[in-house]
Amino acid sequence: MGKITLSVIKADIGSIGGHIKPSQAVIDAVAEHIRSNGPAIGIIDFYVGYTGDDIAILMSHRLGLQRSDNSVHRLAWDAFMAGTIVAKRQGLYAFGQDLLKDAFSGNIRGLGPAVAEMEIDERPNESFILFAADKTDPGAYSLPLYLAFADPMYSSGLLLSPGLQKGFDFHILDVNYAHCPKCDRFHFTDQRCNEVEAENPAGDRVITLSAPDGLYKIAALIRDTERYIIESIYARDNGLQAVAVSTTRLHNIAGKYTGKDDPVMLVRVQSSFPATGEVLAPFAIGHYVAGFMRGSHNGPLMPVKMNSPISFFDGPPIVSGLAFSVHDGEFTEPADVFDQPFWDEIRSQVSRKAVEIRRQGFFGPAMLPMSELEYGGIVHILKELDSSFQIR
Ligand code: F6R
Ligand code: MG
Ligand code: MG
Repeated sequence: MGKITLSVIKADIGSIGGHIKPSQAVIDAVAEHIRSNGPAIGIIDFYVGYTGDDIAILMSHRLGLQRSDNSVHRLAWDAFMAGTIVAKRQGLYAFGQDLLKDAFSGNIRGLGPAVAEMEIDERPNESFILFAADKTDPGAYSLPLYLAFADPMYSSGLLLSPGLQKGFDFHILDVNYAHCPKCDRFHFTDQRCNEVEAENPAGDRVITLSAPDGLYKIAALIRDTERYIIESIYARDNGLQAVAVSTTRLHNIAGKYTGKDDPVMLVRVQSSFPATGEVLAPFAIGHYVAGFMRGSHNGPLMPVKMNSPISFFDGPPIVSGLAFSVHDGEFTEPADVFDQPFWDEIRSQVSRKAVEIRRQGFFGPAMLPMSELEYGGIVHILKELDSSFQIR
């Protein structure tokens, strides 16, 4: 049958009454664009849904990852443009927010929308989960991925299945090494343009580490959720790709913070990969992630039902999970993995964690460090106070 590519592309192009959820008319406009124009370029099937203020477009096709014309990215870009026209007409808040550039230029990576893609040899009973998160960034997925793919305390298959026992290769990206829009070269984001070596290589800075042998090294990196992001995971037993995460950092594109990156992720499950339930298990922690109000706080990640809005303190950070079966590129309807009574109790626990950390407001770990604040207001206060300090 040849290879199938799964592409998920998501963007915030405006929402009702603040950063809450997109309108039905906008979602319909996005879906209609894909429905009308997808088949002509080779889209086999698609699904459109939302998580908080972000719309995700899931597509299957046989065009691969290295598409010379990038027709799949262009299609998604144009669909978000079509949605933005409706969002503007309806007066939705922050319409077109994630479309950072005026025109499509070859590849949607670097233009604003988040992308996760995987080219796979479709198994006869191919099963995967589409995760979409809002009010947080790609580092939010690192803990659940680590626990599901490397920790037998959470993932019993790592003990019980001979295939899974061989472990997994983690590809981890250093997102602080990026293209600089000011000097048009690649350098570390904390480096000044004029301090950069002329011969800095242009490209992503990536490392591959294996679990279980490299466990401590993986942990040492991913504890820093703002810099080192798990980008993909491969089974060592057969080399098959299990995971693809969107690793966009909007501030690297825009040169300043324009919102948290609200990542999407594809995870293949079962047989040579962890079972669906093993992948879901770590989400019961409701771990603290960066994001929440103004993208500038820490809050617990709440697993929510599909098409859930944002609420308390522009949060809490949420994640949805839709499981699909796919055959010859045709999707089943989604099975909502967090729509089950078990998760109601988890949601209550996460709400309590959210209220608890909010009690201390701006103080200490409740608010993110300076480098990660989405708004520059505090810088102005500090600048103003600077001249009033005296040396005693
Ligand atoms: C966070 C987010 C919101 C906004 C907040 C203020 O990613 O989207 O929390 O930051 O609602 O929005 P503005 O500055 O647009 O009024
Ligand atoms: Mg938003
Ligand atoms: Mg969002």
